[in-house]
Amino acid sequence: MSSIAIRAENVSKVYRLGVKEETDDSLFKSLGKMIKSPISNYKKYRSLYSFSDLDFDNPDANADSNVLWALRNVSFDVTQGEVVGIIGRNGAGKSTLLKILSKITPPARGRIEIHGHTSSLLEVGTGFHNELTGRENVYLNGTILGMRKKEVDRKFDEIVEFSGVEKFLDTPVKRYSSGMRVRLAFAVAAHLDPEILIIDEVLAVGDAAFQDKCLRKMQDVGSQGRTVFFVSHNMPAVTRLCQRVIMLSNGQLVADGHSHDIVARYMHEGSNTAAERCWDDDDKAPGTDIVRLKRVRILDENRQTSASSLDIRKPVGFEMTFEVYQDGHTLLPNFKVVTDNGVDVFIAVDIDPEWRKKERLKGTYITTVWVPGNFWSEGSYFVDVGMITLKPHQVRQFFEREVVSFQAVDPMEGDTARGDWVKELGGVIRPLLEWETDFTQ
Ligand SMILES: Nc1ncnc2c1ncn2[C@@H]1O[C@H](COP(=O)(O)OP(=O)(O)O)[C@@H](O)[C@H]1O
Ligand SMILES: [Mg+2]
Repeated sequence: MSSIAIRAENVSKVYRLGVKEETDDSLFKSLGKMIKSPISNYKKYRSLYSFSDLDFDNPDANADSNVLWALRNVSFDVTQGEVVGIIGRNGAGKSTLLKILSKITPPARGRIEIHGHTSSLLEVGTGFHNELTGRENVYLNGTILGMRKKEVDRKFDEIVEFSGVEKFLDTPVKRYSSGMRVRLAFAVAAHLDPEILIIDEVLAVGDAAFQDKCLRKMQDVGSQGRTVFFVSHNMPAVTRLCQRVIMLSNGQLVADGHSHDIVARYMHEGSNTAAERCWDDDDKAPGTDIVRLKRVRILDENRQTSASSLDIRKPVGFEMTFEVYQDGHTLLPNFKVVTDNGVDVFIAVDIDPEWRKKERLKGTYITTVWVPGNFWSEGSYFVDVGMITLKPHQVRQFFEREVVSFQAVDPMEGDTARGDWVKELGGVIRPLLEWETDFTQ
């Protein structure tokens, strides 16, 4: 039976507005302060951590008090070897949760259990001592993790190589750029064989190549049976790396489950674009006196609104419903697909011979275009919807950006263009192509 690595029970964290919790970046500094001003420290500590006036079981009851609930009654178990993604909007409480799990800050209420040596990379440069060199910091971190010098020695070259900061090893870390700090910090955290690895959005920093390298490393760490906890806004990375995702919203755990499902839910809630969008109110619907958009859907192969993420092997339909108010116009419905990085994938215009160049009668039309399976790469896509009238000249009647969105997922079963390649594949599309080889000896 697999054992528990992390258990959080009703964890809440509250910040008093106007009282900033100070974190000293070095142990020495905080020790120094404590010796200098024990009484003011104690008072400050009391005001920060005394929340006896709050009703933790019913956070809403405290809605108008001057406290901010960074986390509210968050509970979950993580078993050893799980790779768990934490997602949520800015301010959702992700970093706070990781800080509590890393024991950098205590919960106001609730308890956590951690089984295993934990290595965490929270913000750029935390865990580093500014005055010490890169080399010294590697050893310091190893010691904090409970490793002997010999053990760190063994890992040292690997860490340095991964980080790419060889030339600056004997330079104090305060002279490092933030990119160098992240690289070294990630290398240290990931290579010191922690049983639990906690990573907060480090992948937002650094170049794309380094981000990929970090993801691969986390994948390795995860596949060695270690527990990984990681926050990211890179949804394809989250779905690829994690089986499980926990979603936070306003400090509460709002979803915990299979990564594809939770990520799809997050995307749909977040950008206010889902697999379906309707305009019930004619005045607000995009369009003109000639034609208005009524509804847009993403369809699965059974013509149902696609509920969560799409399997890249399956066909997908984009459907638009529109109302034509005048007889006699020639219309050109069109869709445009854009990746979450803003790359245009294609524009598709209606070429159905049945309707092409035909003058239409007024009424309701439902037009669908089908994209075959094995077309999409892994990732998030947004769909723009447009309508043009052709005669006497081309006029745009509506063009709505990012009306619906979906997440394309490669099931990793070896029957997509990915074949036996298990790592990052990239690209905007992933067509399944025919291969042949001529062999001579
Ligand atoms: N030290 C602090 N003092 C006061 N408020 C804080 C502090 N740290 C975080 N918060 C607040 O707690 C909430 C959650 O923050 P955080 O955990 O950083 O969110 P996330 O990482 O999901 O963006 C935010 O509203 C933030 O402003
Ligand atoms: Mg954060």
